[in-house]
Amino acid sequence: MNYVIGIDLGTSAVKIVLVNQAGEVVQEISKGYPLIHEKHGYSEQNPEDWVNQTIEGLSELIGNFDGNPKDIEGISFSGQMHGLVLLDKNHDVLRNAILWNDTRTTVECQDIYEMVGEERLLAITKNPALEGFTLPKILWVRKHEPEIFKKAAVFLLPKDYVRLKLTGKLHMEYSDAAGTLLLDVSKKEWSQEVCELLGLDVGICPPLVESFDEVGLIMPEIAEHTGLWASTRVFAGGADNACGAIGAGILEEGKTLCSIGTSGVVLSYEETAAKDFGGKVHYFNHGAPGAFYTMGVTLAAGYSLSWFKDVFAKNESFDELLGDVGSVPVGSNGLLFTPYLVGERTPHADAAIRGSFIGLDGSHVRKDFVRAVLEGITFSLNESIEIFRSSGKTIDSVISIGGGAKNSDWLQIQADIFNAKIVKLASEQGPAMGAAMLAAYGCRWFTTLKECGDQFLKVDKVYEPNPENVAKYQKLFEVYKDVYTHTKGLSGRLIDWGRQE
Ligand code: XUL
Repeated sequence: MNYVIGIDLGTSAVKIVLVNQAGEVVQEISKGYPLIHEKHGYSEQNPEDWVNQTIEGLSELIGNFDGNPKDIEGISFSGQMHGLVLLDKNHDVLRNAILWNDTRTTVECQDIYEMVGEERLLAITKNPALEGFTLPKILWVRKHEPEIFKKAAVFLLPKDYVRLKLTGKLHMEYSDAAGTLLLDVSKKEWSQEVCELLGLDVGICPPLVESFDEVGLIMPEIAEHTGLWASTRVFAGGADNACGAIGAGILEEGKTLCSIGTSGVVLSYEETAAKDFGGKVHYFNHGAPGAFYTMGVTLAAGYSLSWFKDVFAKNESFDELLGDVGSVPVGSNGLLFTPYLVGERTPHADAAIRGSFIGLDGSHVRKDFVRAVLEGITFSLNESIEIFRSSGKTIDSVISIGGGAKNSDWLQIQADIFNAKIVKLASEQGPAMGAAMLAAYGCRWFTTLKECGDQFLKVDKVYEPNPENVAKYQKLFEVYKDVYTHTKGLSGRLIDWGRQE
């Protein structure tokens, strides 16, 4: 039996899966690392933590493996998007990585619009200037840390750095490059024009490859340390959302994904880059050959729930915390939550908005809060579904993955709020499975990724929308959407107040 490894470099942990040719997950290992929040709005990680934990995880996996490491044919990657890893000419890291959920770059986003022009930026990169994307972070370092920037020879995204450390080879692939705001998404090349208008040397951008391209072999010293076979083939991999889509079989027009990790996304497959959403949703290259996807993002999806658990139920498991949400009626007895803990992306690109519980009265108990959090996250994702539907897309079935697919009450809430069938996959592994599928496809186990998906992915259960609940949620959704408008000014005043203290 032959195997592949999928490595998903997430925001809180790296997850590694070993998958056999039947698509069975033989082993799964997860290793955490810290987030560094030095200041309000800052979110960083030490790239060496990613590398060390990945190597640890691989060593553990090979240690537990009773087969021959030679039979592990290929490895590929998925990774948190947009994070800036700056390297000097020796490929040494110059500073901590600035992550996708770091919101310090509002001024740099304005600078990009002034220097490139909003329309031109959208025409080339198919996306607006958002704080989370990589280019504003590069400009921030250039402005605030000129000594560091002077030494910068090239930048990478998080998983590309880990791959560099395992193979010695430096690349970036299109699905992640699309989230930098430096890629001409339709032409699949770095935009000389955007670089020139911003005074950046295009040489700072790394060589581009396809997600399924073989980019090197595991280096002998890494093989020795981990127990991997020294000539294990390494494939480029993809952005975590592209890999989440591949790992859920979003490989043809008409398929929609809801993925709830730290962030939450609603993602839809696109055959071409020709559609125009006016920048309301992200438009990125897929990891599948020649394909694209559009996507709306809720910045604090799973993060809202883990924040709630950390603050109010630290010693409980998620299962305990969510145990009785099914006994709370639709609408959480009038308690509504907006998940804007770190600002928002879709439909409100607003780094300054903050979350709220609203409608609170003396009858509310903890389980109302918990259900309100689940409903608020799902309402936020429904705003992306609404954008897709209003552009003419039919969304009657959504594949749900990640934390949101682990709880049956939450899956039913998704069916009722999205007014769509929710499909839960058997043995769902999220982006790590997408990464493993890219390795399997790269190794030519299958002639297409779709064929691989047909073999690897099975449906476990379908949740049907309940018409009575759908009608109630449609009314409540209107209230939910109004909370943003009414709390925008208040949030701004509270952030200023908080910063003065
Ligand atoms: C997507 C985004 C997040 C990260 C999370 O644009 O910023 O979904 O990819 O890892």
